[in-house]
Amino acid sequence: MISCFMNIEIQNAGLKDLSSLRQLEEICFPLDQWPLIDLIGVLTLPGIIRKKAVQGERFIGFIAGDVRKREGVGWITTIAVSPDYRGLGIGKKLLSICEVEMNIPKILLSVRKSNQAAINMYLNSGYYQKEIWESYYNGGEDGIVFEKRR
Ligand SMILES: CC(C)(COP(=O)(O)OP(=O)(O)OC[C@H]1O[C@@H](n2cnc3c(N)ncnc32)[C@H](O)[C@@H]1OP(=O)(O)O)[C@@H](O)C(=O)NCCC(=O)NCCS
Repeated sequence: MISCFMNIEIQNAGLKDLSSLRQLEEICFPLDQWPLIDLIGVLTLPGIIRKKAVQGERFIGFIAGDVRKREGVGWITTIAVSPDYRGLGIGKKLLSICEVEMNIPKILLSVRKSNQAAINMYLNSGYYQKEIWESYYNGGEDGIVFEKRR
């Protein structure tokens, strides 16, 4: 659990977080970094819930949820927590806050088949395995699509 003594807060993210987000993505997604244009998009486009975890001025986590109201579906498009702050409940907190703000009955996401920490977090948070996307990721690794109904 996040200890209140750590002064970690979850806040809305925006374009001013671009360089922090870029650094976080470089560390957390060595094989799947988004191009700069996608990072700008996730921080600015309408219909996206974007939240950051901060400790003071330090940017330590991020999540984005793309809400497709007409389809009744939302996609968690990215979630990452800085390595020094993992295992403290920040990922789970970001996920639950994003889910609430997405306010949509069905939430989907994809994850590398080998990413056991993330898979455990999703299973732990009420997601179930929906399908496999073969060779979806860079390098040919399969993706697992998880779904949650709310
Ligand atoms: C996945 C990630 C966001 C989890 O963030 P986190 O803040 O460490 O996660 P939490 O502390 O909230 O842990 C939530 C659950 O995840 C699972 N988990 C977290 N770290 C784990 C690990 N190292 N091994 C196994 N399970 C783990 C546990 O089930 C945990 O619940 P529990 O503590 O009740 O057992 C983080 O590991 C990360 O940023 N990874 C790199 C980026 C990434 O892979 N993102 C997901 C892409 S789909």
